[in-house]
Amino acid sequence: MRRSSPLRSLDRVLIRNATPDDVSFIRALEEQAETAAHWNSREYDALFSPGAPRRFVLIAADEAETSQLCGFVIARCGVDEWEIENVVVADQHRRSGLGTALLSQLLQQARESSITSVLLEVRHSNAAARRLYEKLGFSEVGRRPNYYREPPEDALLLKISISFP
Ligand SMILES: CC(C)(COP(=O)(O)OP(=O)(O)OC[C@H]1O[C@@H](n2cnc3c(N)ncnc32)[C@H](O)[C@@H]1OP(=O)(O)O)[C@@H](O)C(=O)NCCC(=O)NCCS
Repeated sequence: MRRSSPLRSLDRVLIRNATPDDVSFIRALEEQAETAAHWNSREYDALFSPGAPRRFVLIAADEAETSQLCGFVIARCGVDEWEIENVVVADQHRRSGLGTALLSQLLQQARESSITSVLLEVRHSNAAARRLYEKLGFSEVGRRPNYYREPPEDALLLKISISFP
């Protein structure tokens, strides 16, 4: 994937639903992000396959850079609850509000789908992600000791309850 200049604002970023054509770019971005959840080829192949669990996947593309992918979020959609499985913003685009924009759009879609809560797991040491989730209103509801490998670490379970308009 081509590197680009940092975003000066979110004005030129388009957030849209992902399609199967975006999967290789999502994967490339995930591989660059050490603290992201890492999936194997089989899991990526299944993302849009018929019979796969229903998911909501948003990507952010920089329109000024020939629609280069600069972020994504993936959530698994249960009947009442969604689970955020991964969220990544390209290194050079971080701290511009893009993570907030992706998650806000996901939470808005959850609200419109009458979902009651959204959950996620995060490494205890992932201060950037924890701060982002906290700012959006997630709070800690549990801890899974030694949930992660390489390196072993506790997962914090965070949740936000969705209120309807
Ligand atoms: C976590 C991540 C998605 C945040 O994306 P982002 O676009 O930089 O987030 P935002 O710009 O919307 O930041 C929102 C808030 O999160 C917090 N935050 C984000 N990055 C931070 C950092 N490096 N250190 C401390 N706080 C941070 C801040 O409170 C920030 O608000 P502020 O800029 O007004 O202070 C990004 O750092 C990332 O892709 N990390 C690697 C993948 C990952 O760990 N994903 C989470 C898996 S559970």
